[in-house]
Amino acid sequence: MTPEVVEAGRVRLRPYRPDDADELAVGCGDPVNLRFNPTMPQPYTVTAAHWWITEGAPAAWRAGGAAYAIADAGTDLLVGGIGISNLVPAHGQAEVGYWVTPRARRRGVATAATRALATAAFRAGLARLELLTDVENPASQRVALAAGFHPEGVRRAAGRSRDGGRHDLLAWVRLADDPAGPTPRRLPDLPDGRLTDGVVTLRRLAPADTDPLYRLHTLPEVVATRVRPVPPTRAAIARRCAVAESDWLTGGSADFALLDAATGALAGGCALVYDEPATGQAMIGYSLLPEARGRGLTTRAVRLLAGWAFGPVGLARLWAGTAPWNHPSQRVLERAGFRREGLMRGRLPGRDGTRADTVLWSLLPTDPH
Ligand SMILES: CC(C)(COP(=O)(O)OP(=O)(O)OC[C@H]1O[C@@H](n2cnc3c(N)ncnc32)[C@H](O)[C@@H]1OP(=O)(O)O)[C@@H](O)C(=O)NCCC(=O)NCCS
Repeated sequence: MTPEVVEAGRVRLRPYRPDDADELAVGCGDPVNLRFNPTMPQPYTVTAAHWWITEGAPAAWRAGGAAYAIADAGTDLLVGGIGISNLVPAHGQAEVGYWVTPRARRRGVATAATRALATAAFRAGLARLELLTDVENPASQRVALAAGFHPEGVRRAAGRSRDGGRHDLLAWVRLADDPAGPTPRRLPDLPDGRLTDGVVTLRRLAPADTDPLYRLHTLPEVVATRVRPVPPTRAAIARRCAVAESDWLTGGSADFALLDAATGALAGGCALVYDEPATGQAMIGYSLLPEARGRGLTTRAVRLLAGWAFGPVGLARLWAGTAPWNHPSQRVLERAGFRREGLMRGRLPGRDGTRADTVLWSLLPTDPH
């Protein structure tokens, strides 16, 4: 690519200038940026900024990529950086990366810059642009979606951490003939971030839910209903909470904290696993802490979840499975309008290499619920 100025509405992509150095050091030195761009020097000094302006960025251009400053269109002052690297000419493929200085975030800067750079890159002949995000970086995943990139899956251990270890990255891809975005989502965000009937509130699971969720999932009666009936580690529950937003954004599952609306305390959890997008079918599951049981909270949560699933998500069928002995759970489903469809023999792994039967339940949008 060639370092031509690209106008992108409220921002402009232009080559770096020596007087960008101070702002470049502030933006790149931000802890959030250093966390998600672990190949940048830490601490990011003004000397590092000068090196990037005089040597790093010119080298990126010489390698056939791009290294633009993102500047405010009105003032021409630096508000971020965006580039193209890791060119694979034989595949017409390259990778986009960006950062925005903290005071300019959440104003559409990264989205406008990414759309504009993608258009320029496709015009220059690329066929495929990749964007790799940390699974715990929903801001960047939302930029990818807003700029027309589609989730392609997990690149295992594709990221190098500062401590020398490796971590998974999510791959987002836009092809030359894909629309500029936003990419349609299978699972939309919740209106105002929650669903509520005044008694129960459902919101997306978050990292702060780790402790009560771990307590819930290590209760013996909850362990007995897990798909492998063994207690999870605390690290597994922490990760589940940490990736809830990215699972939602990629359309795999919607993992909810179930709150007592009166106190705001976590009373349990429920989830919608979008296991069959091709046929518009998803599975639901739920569990409640002992002190919250017996008040109809789970039934309310399932009704709220079903309303969202058949409304904004547009599903055609919800299904659930219960153990044959799990009468409280079967009662929840009956009260929420689900119908019993039959017994799936040997459906799930049980204890010690055995298999366990599952009672199958379903709800259709036309069922009274
Ligand atoms: C990721 C980053 C570049 C986003 O820049 P930005 O200019 O704030 O992004 P935009 O304003 O274009 O926002 C795009 C979307 O992200 C959302 N978003 C922005 N910051 C967010 C945050 N902290 N948490 C959740 N969502 C966020 C916006 O609401 C918007 O969503 P929408 O399209 O659904 O409305 C910026 O947060 C950043 O510099 N982070 C550190 C560096 C980094 O992570 N780089 C990417 C490495 S892959």
